[in-house]
Amino acid sequence: MSTTYIILLPFLLTCAIASAAECENATSLSLMIDSLLATYDRESPPDSKIVVNLTLHLRHANIRESESTVRILADLQMNWIDKRLSWNAGEWGCSTWLVSSERLWRPDVVLLNAAATTAGDYALRARVSNNGSVSWIKRLDISTPISMQLDNWPNDMQTCTFKFGSRMHNSDEMDFVIDKRIYSMFESGAWDVTDLSSAVQSQDRGEVEARVAMFQMSFRRRAPAHALAAGAVFAVVLLLLLSAAALPPATRPPLAAVSAFISILWQMSVSSRLGEAGSAPRVSRVQAAAAVCAAACCAAAALVCRVQRCRRAPPPPLRSLISNLSNTCDLTPLPEWSCEQSAWWGACGRVLDRALLLLLLLALLLLVLVYCF
Ligand SMILES: *[C@@H]1O[C@H](CO)[C@@H](O)[C@H](O)[C@H]1NC(C)=O
Ligand SMILES: *[C@@H]1O[C@H](CO)[C@@H](O)[C@H](O)[C@H]1NC(C)=O
Ligand SMILES: *[C@@H]1O[C@H](CO)[C@@H](O)[C@H](O)[C@H]1NC(C)=O
Repeated sequence: MSTTYIILLPFLLTCAIASAAECENATSLSLMIDSLLATYDRESPPDSKIVVNLTLHLRHANIRESESTVRILADLQMNWIDKRLSWNAGEWGCSTWLVSSERLWRPDVVLLNAAATTAGDYALRARVSNNGSVSWIKRLDISTPISMQLDNWPNDMQTCTFKFGSRMHNSDEMDFVIDKRIYSMFESGAWDVTDLSSAVQSQDRGEVEARVAMFQMSFRRRAPAHALAAGAVFAVVLLLLLSAAALPPATRPPLAAVSAFISILWQMSVSSRLGEAGSAPRVSRVQAAAAVCAAACCAAAALVCRVQRCRRAPPPPLRSLISNLSNTCDLTPLPEWSCEQSAWWGACGRVLDRALLLLLLLALLLLVLVYCF
C-alpha cells in the first residue's frame, strides 16, 4: 500500500502544483472566463424552473426595544445550477472560480416583509463550479418591526419572521430549498436566540402564487436583575399592605400610601425602559392592582373613621343587625381606636372594617396567585 503511495506521490504533487498554477494564472483564467461569458446572457434565467438553495448564516441579532424592531446581520447564501456556466475541469485545470456577481444571472431574492432596511445589502463575488453550480452570498443588514408581547416580562420570548422571496418569479419559475444544516447559532446582547426555524411556503399574489422562504427566530430576554427587582418590590408592597391591614383604621393610611408610592415609582421606572408593545407586562399589571388596593385601603380606613364619628341615632334595622352580630363576635372598642365617638357607630364601623379588610386580603391573595402563575 505505502509503496504505491510513495511511487504515486511525485506524480500527485506535480498534478496539484500544475492545477494550482493554472488556477493561479489570473491572465489565462480571466481569458477563459471572458470567452465563456462572451456568449452568456445574464438577463435570462438558466432554466424554466430554478431551484435556489438558501442558507442563512446568522451573525448577529438583537431587539431594539425602544423602536420595537429586530436587527440582524446575516449572510444569505444562495446556491443554484446554471448549466451554461459548466466547463471541463481537466481542460481548464481549475474546478472553481470567483467572478463578479454582476456578470451572472442572479435570483432576485429579497427580503419581503421588512418595512425598514437600515444599511441595505451588498453582494460578494459568486463562486462558480465546473458542474455549473453557482454559490453567491448576500450580506444582510436588516431590521424589521416586531410586535412585542410583554406578558411574561422580564422572562418574555419574542419571535420574528423574515420572509425572503422573488418579486418577479412565480412558483412555476422559482422554488426554494432551505439548507437546514448550516445555521450559525450564537448569543448576543440582552437577547438569546433560542430557536431558528424555517419553512418554504406558497404566497398568494393576486393571480399568481409565489414561493416564499421564511426564517423564524425566537429570542429570550436575559434580564435576571429585572426579575429579582420586580419580585422584591412586589414583596415590599405586599408586606406594607399587610402591616397596614393589621393596624387600626386611623393609623392605616400612611403605610398604605407608602406602599402605593413604592409601587407607582417602580411602574414609572419600568415603563420608561419598555418601548411600544402589544401587551403590558403581567408584573406591571399586578403592581398597578396592588397600588389600587393600597389606595382602596386608605379609602376604606377613612370611611370607617367617618362612620365611627357619626352622632345621629343609628336606624333601627342597623341597630338590630349590630346587636345580633355582637352576640356572635366581640365588638367591644379597643383603646387605640381613636375615631370612635358613639358606641353604636363604633361597633358599626368595626363590622364595616372587618368586611373591607376581608375584601382587601382576598384581593391580595388573588394578586399573589396571578403574580406566581
Ligand atoms: C499564464 O497564461 C498565459 C496565457 O495562457 C501565458 O501566456 C502565461 O505564460 C501564463 N503564465 C504563467 C506564469 O504560467
Ligand atoms: C440543493 O439542496 C438539495 C437538497 O439538499 C441538493 O440535493 C442539491 O444538490 C442542492 N443544490 C445545489 C445547487 O446546491
Ligand atoms: C458541483 O461541484 C461542487 C464543487 O466541486 C460541489 O460542491 C457540488 O456538490 C457539485 N454540485 C452538483 C450538483 O454536482
